[in-house]
Amino acid sequence: MLDGQVFLGWLSLIVLLSSGPAAAYFGLTGNEPLTILPLTSETEGAAEKAHYKICDRLKLEKKQRRMCRRDPGVAETLMEAISMSAQECEYQFHFERWNCTLEGRYRASLLKQGFKETAFLYAISSAGLTHAMAKACSAGRMERCTCDEAPDLENREAWQWGGCGDNLKYSNKFVKEFLGKKSDRDLRARMDLHNTNVGIKVIKAGVKTTCKCHGVSGSCTVRTCWRQLSPFHEIGKQLKQKYETSLKVGSTTNEATGEGDISPAKKPISGHTDHIPRTTDLIYIDDSPNFCLMSKYSPGTFGRRCYKDKNCESICCGRGHNTQSKVVTRPCQCQVRWCCYVECKQCTQREEVYTCKD
Ligand SMILES: *[C@@H]1O[C@H](CO)[C@@H](O)[C@H](O)[C@H]1NC(C)=O
Repeated sequence: MLDGQVFLGWLSLIVLLSSGPAAAYFGLTGNEPLTILPLTSETEGAAEKAHYKICDRLKLEKKQRRMCRRDPGVAETLMEAISMSAQECEYQFHFERWNCTLEGRYRASLLKQGFKETAFLYAISSAGLTHAMAKACSAGRMERCTCDEAPDLENREAWQWGGCGDNLKYSNKFVKEFLGKKSDRDLRARMDLHNTNVGIKVIKAGVKTTCKCHGVSGSCTVRTCWRQLSPFHEIGKQLKQKYETSLKVGSTTNEATGEGDISPAKKPISGHTDHIPRTTDLIYIDDSPNFCLMSKYSPGTFGRRCYKDKNCESICCGRGHNTQSKVVTRPCQCQVRWCCYVECKQCTQREEVYTCKD
């Protein structure tokens, strides 16, 4: 489903607004397609500054580029973050009309608007970066950070901090600096900043303390504990839920100056009437298209594979679906043989494949 060449092909700096300072955004919210893979080839030999090449290809803003270049671990982590966010987005939207099509021109048009989908892209991008950086620290891939440090001493008696925690503290600091603070003068800029912060918050809220027992035959006289992030799939799932319950906001402002606060949209939106957005809600300002037909935002759902009784009705937008019978061969009746391999039979099966009609 995923093609590395394609899905890593679109990132760069985005200049969303013509006014105010350039937006220091990153990840799936970049709007110029750019092929940044392959990562490894052609850099052999010049290994010392190999990461400079990655930093350049990422088309970062000046400050971001400086941060990228100062540590080879950063370049690697940025790549990891983009790839994680993209895979998770595609996974979460696999059954939806908008299936997280990230191909250049569709994404660029989408990012010009303040849709719920745009909100999701901002949140998953900042979440991906926060997650990848905290993990990179604890994995020892960074020069400027290592494991999470022990917190205050209050819990010392019960157990010790040990192991190697994911370094969210460093990661947060890095992400705040890396994404910068956008001008918050207009509603759209505030929407983006808000949704970026939602992504960071979800990572923070998912931190768990994990412990391990030590002592004679597992007597647990000593426990060591460390902080661990939720798996990124869990984060993706939560952000998808937030997408579904996202809130439309309007502005209490004067459109001319752009000054003012985010507030619920003036016209009540079904289900979410006068619900004031919290700092953990995703917010949007423009109603999304239905993504049924080809438009500048998506290729439409003609010919999309769908799953009967699950999403054909919804994603085919009432046009109905075609059914095709296919013969597929799969490994089956697998058994583990001593020692140590798995033996399977090949089973042939007829399967129905459904696709949306034109
Ligand atoms: C999304 O759907 C389009 C067809 O509408 C398809 O070409 C594309 O591969 C799908 N993308 C993903 C990530 O599944």
